[in-house]
Amino acid sequence: MCGIVGYVGNRPVVDLLIQGLRHLEYRGYDSAGVAFFRDGIIEIEKSEGRLVHVEKLLAESSKVFQGSKCGIGHTRWATHGKPTTQNAHPHRTGHVVLVHNGIIENYQEVRKQILERGHRPLSETDSELFGFLVLEEMNRGLGLRESVRKSFLKIRGSCTMVVMSEKEPGVVVGVRNGTPLVAANDPLGGGVFASDAQGLLHVSKNVVFLEHGDLAEISEKGLEVFDLKTGKTIQRNATLLDWSVEQLDKQGHAHYMLKEIYEQPSSLMDTLNALVERSNGIPFSLAHQPAVKLIENARDIHIVACGTSWHAALLAKYWMEKWARIPVNVELASEFRYRDPVVGKSSIIIGLAQSGETADTLAVIRKARAAGIPTVGITNIRGSTISREADAVLYMAAGPEVGVAATKTFTAQLMTLLVLTGHLAVKNSQAHPDDQVQGIQKLFEQVIQMPHLLADYLEAGKLAKDTKKAARALKDSRGFFFIGRGFSFPIALEGALKLKEIAYIHAEGYAGGELKHGPIAMIDQEMTVVVLAPLDIWREKTVSNLEEVKARGARILGIGDASDLVLQSLCDHWIALPPGLDKIDSSLFPLALTPVVQLLSYEIALLKGTDVDKPRNLAKSVTVE
Ligand code: AGP
Repeated sequence: MCGIVGYVGNRPVVDLLIQGLRHLEYRGYDSAGVAFFRDGIIEIEKSEGRLVHVEKLLAESSKVFQGSKCGIGHTRWATHGKPTTQNAHPHRTGHVVLVHNGIIENYQEVRKQILERGHRPLSETDSELFGFLVLEEMNRGLGLRESVRKSFLKIRGSCTMVVMSEKEPGVVVGVRNGTPLVAANDPLGGGVFASDAQGLLHVSKNVVFLEHGDLAEISEKGLEVFDLKTGKTIQRNATLLDWSVEQLDKQGHAHYMLKEIYEQPSSLMDTLNALVERSNGIPFSLAHQPAVKLIENARDIHIVACGTSWHAALLAKYWMEKWARIPVNVELASEFRYRDPVVGKSSIIIGLAQSGETADTLAVIRKARAAGIPTVGITNIRGSTISREADAVLYMAAGPEVGVAATKTFTAQLMTLLVLTGHLAVKNSQAHPDDQVQGIQKLFEQVIQMPHLLADYLEAGKLAKDTKKAARALKDSRGFFFIGRGFSFPIALEGALKLKEIAYIHAEGYAGGELKHGPIAMIDQEMTVVVLAPLDIWREKTVSNLEEVKARGARILGIGDASDLVLQSLCDHWIALPPGLDKIDSSLFPLALTPVVQLLSYEIALLKGTDVDKPRNLAKSVTVE
């Protein structure tokens, strides 16, 4: 997890590093720091807590850094050692200064050897140890790049290192080994490193996604890439990204999360347009992508994911089995990777991860590939590890998501899985009765309408007002249950996760039918039950569950169809879904329910005063197990 930036060139480096780190802070934010050259000496400013503390230190500092053109920066999510200033990166070892993301697995062994050789690390981190290895190699007369290369071969683990030395001003060396590192040439001269493209878009949109086992160097000559094992030069091409720096700003919203909730209609449309060929008149016509071919050929589909992505996968199971009649297994990647599932060469394993970096999901992909089972990655990030390690990839087009809580990437995942469902349904349509075929055509037309319907819903302002009101009334509840059935069940899970994540309130999502099997024992007057009951085939059953919890004193927040006055009359608090939703196929209701539960959590978190965009203990890409 952790975010890294490195730069050599003609721009003022400290501002550039800070700007990059701001865009990477979602990767970890328990401490931060920058290191930069000043008159041949490397200065370090670092602090526990947020990046803003480092900015404050820099503002108060007497160190002159405006002329500095070479430096590295880091924002940390602690693994080895507490989130203190001492453990914050960059770490200095003599003339060597480095930042690190990931874990050195043979850390104990390396530490022992270093201590035996008389060195005394100052921090509790595994990262600092690497500095001693580089220092030793440089003291033997090797240059920085070769020292980093040789040192890296002595450690094990999935990690990224970015290193500089006072002996070689104007050079920054990076290694990508598992955890991500991207790089670019600066059009004004020099080069830049970052953990992902968001961290360097302010320098260039022509991004080189370094590969596992790449050693790279930036200097005034620009970017050069080498093979980590042999040290020989290798060629890596740049990809031109269509993301813009403006997308990384809050654009007037109080939080990124709020902005990203409101961006959902456009990210849904962008994802639809990116995936579907609309000119040929065939519904859900996915372009001839290798990923689609692999999925089409599979006898059974296994989707593995974590957290919010797992909720999206769960809904995909409901959709795919209903519309395409294909058996779909959905599983937490952390479970799947360690058991012995029944999969074979005629199965497909889909790793669903907005970040494309989630350790457990990647582990499943790697294991499957090693066993010869076809794999597909679905991600929002071009060049991410999953996009390179799976046999084929499908990209959603949510654009950059900065808030740690996934919002627009969740609905973009839903859109991707929905069009995939539709595509498979069309492909298998010979096996369907006529009304099902017509149903698929109608569904496609309604999928195109959904972003517009949601845009009207969000822009009308009533939803914002209703969620604020409900949040004020319910914020002090002891706990929340979110209940739903059928297509609403995964959204109940997602609603509960959002509330836990950003408001730190205990919340659980349940399929309505499960309440009587235990959870109902928790219900009393201090509990709120959020009932997701749109007008679908499950509504009656969900209303029965509502009656059961209401009879036991729970406060009820109902979310239902705008015309459902009966449901509204049973609820203490009420949020209406978009007008006109009753004319849409119930498969698409989750796309309307999602912004409601997202905004509800957001409003409650605001009232609780939490850090909405950077909730405690979390990071956006979980790159360690
Ligand atoms: C979402 O709000 C969470 N931050 C988290 O559950 C996330 O969905 C999970 O870590 C999986 O991430 P991925 O989609 O990048 O694999």
